[in-house]
Amino acid sequence: MEKILVLDFGGQYNQLIARRVREQNVYAEIKPYNRITAQQIAEAGYKGIIFTGGPNSVYDEKSPHCDKKVLELGIPVLGICYGAQLTAWLCGGEICSAGSLGEYGKIELEVKDDPLFEGVPEKSICWMSHTDYIKRVPEGFRVTATTEHCPCAAMSDGKGIYAVQFHPEVTHTVYGKRMLHNFLFAICRCSGDWKMSDFAKEAVEKYRNQLKGKKVLCALSGGVDSSVAAVLLHKAIGSDLTCVFVDHGLLRKDEGDMVERTFKKRFDMNIIRVNAEDLFLEKLKGVTEPEKKRKIIGEEFIRVFEREAKKIGKVNYLVQGTIYPDVIESGAGDASTIKSHHNVGGLPSVIDFDEIIEPLRELFKDEVRAVGTELGIPHDLVWRQPFPGPGLAIRVIGEITKDKLDTLRDADAIFREEVVNAGLEKITNQYFAVLTDTRSVGVMGDARTYGYTVALRAVTTDDFMTADWTRLPYEVLEKASSRITNEVRTIGRVVYDITSKPPATVEWE
Ligand code: XMP
Repeated sequence: MEKILVLDFGGQYNQLIARRVREQNVYAEIKPYNRITAQQIAEAGYKGIIFTGGPNSVYDEKSPHCDKKVLELGIPVLGICYGAQLTAWLCGGEICSAGSLGEYGKIELEVKDDPLFEGVPEKSICWMSHTDYIKRVPEGFRVTATTEHCPCAAMSDGKGIYAVQFHPEVTHTVYGKRMLHNFLFAICRCSGDWKMSDFAKEAVEKYRNQLKGKKVLCALSGGVDSSVAAVLLHKAIGSDLTCVFVDHGLLRKDEGDMVERTFKKRFDMNIIRVNAEDLFLEKLKGVTEPEKKRKIIGEEFIRVFEREAKKIGKVNYLVQGTIYPDVIESGAGDASTIKSHHNVGGLPSVIDFDEIIEPLRELFKDEVRAVGTELGIPHDLVWRQPFPGPGLAIRVIGEITKDKLDTLRDADAIFREEVVNAGLEKITNQYFAVLTDTRSVGVMGDARTYGYTVALRAVTTDDFMTADWTRLPYEVLEKASSRITNEVRTIGRVVYDITSKPPATVEWE
């Protein structure tokens, strides 16, 4: 199989690079810069290497550097942002701080004749985000693009080493896709015959060999990610897989029964449902800080699994449906922590399994759905909207109580129902209610009320790394608001969240 190596130097867009490569039907895998040697790269037979961006300056003592030999393997290299500066620095060029002339956002780019820019107009918009820049290109290189403040926005040695200061993987770089296409097909000579179905087939095959005769436990939440992970593993090892579904009492209305039914009946899997509501609510009592909630839930999850695992004898592996945005936002590698997704950053350090398996760790949500479809998972399950591992705990702002959870469950069910009734579930990627800890005064039947404020949230996104708030029609919001205040008596006010991500995140906590 033809593959591209994405050498990770800690940038926020690393997985996006891999995804952009996969979108062009070439398999890409990410490896941290310090976990693969030049020799291993040569032996693995990569068709090309991409150096990612990263937050450091090449001159920082702690900045990540790879062996210069990586550039001498005869495999084409594309350095992006920090990766471009590192390429220049390794080859003897000079890097400088741009000071106040650092470029951020959309910038006009002027390109010269170069294989990387074949089909790219002389002037176009690119996405920049850099403080340092390449002041002097190394011997044997020539500058192939510039911007107003960047004397070297791209360079090449004419023998297979390319570097760009901007980010071709970000859609704001108007011809970024074309540039990556040039790198993959004209420069690396890939044939582009890889498909997402190959990922599913290869993963089933790989786990069938790796886990033969082992006892494997899967953390199943009923959400898209863990469902796809479970079905994938079930296809690989059948009854050696046991799924544990922890009902932590933080699920949506009637969700627990639905999940149990689906996996027992539709998929004929070994599934154990653990009702642990009391345990979780006790642990969360009085806790208001979002990161603390996440850590507690993550830790309790693992403890419950450990206990279940012990009941079924020696368990070697634990499967989790972690996907890429969970990993990156939890601060994987050198990227900064945004919030600890419960299945990554919340993991306790002492754990009673040999190993954790995360088959979807490198994929984005839409890629996971494509794998799910390949595996024959029914459409309605594959297209369920995402639901966070810590469940409604991070949608009840402030202290969590059973009453508040029930209130939120009712309001959330009404809102979701109204979105579906209006046939809008396809135009919004996630839609749910949040119970704020604000109460407000109202009037009902001539009497004063003092109820909770519920916030409705609907977002449109393709990768959940950035999101826009969905412009739901007023009539739908009106119907939901009227039903919620009438049917859920503890709620006195309904508001609609019109914040995009960034600066907000999808969830409130
Ligand atoms: P945020 O709030 O980080 O959400 O913008 C992005 C997407 O991730 C979901 N999410 C989680 N999923 N465990 C998960 O499995 C978590 O801890 C978690 N936190 C957020 C969120 O619902 C949205 O789809």
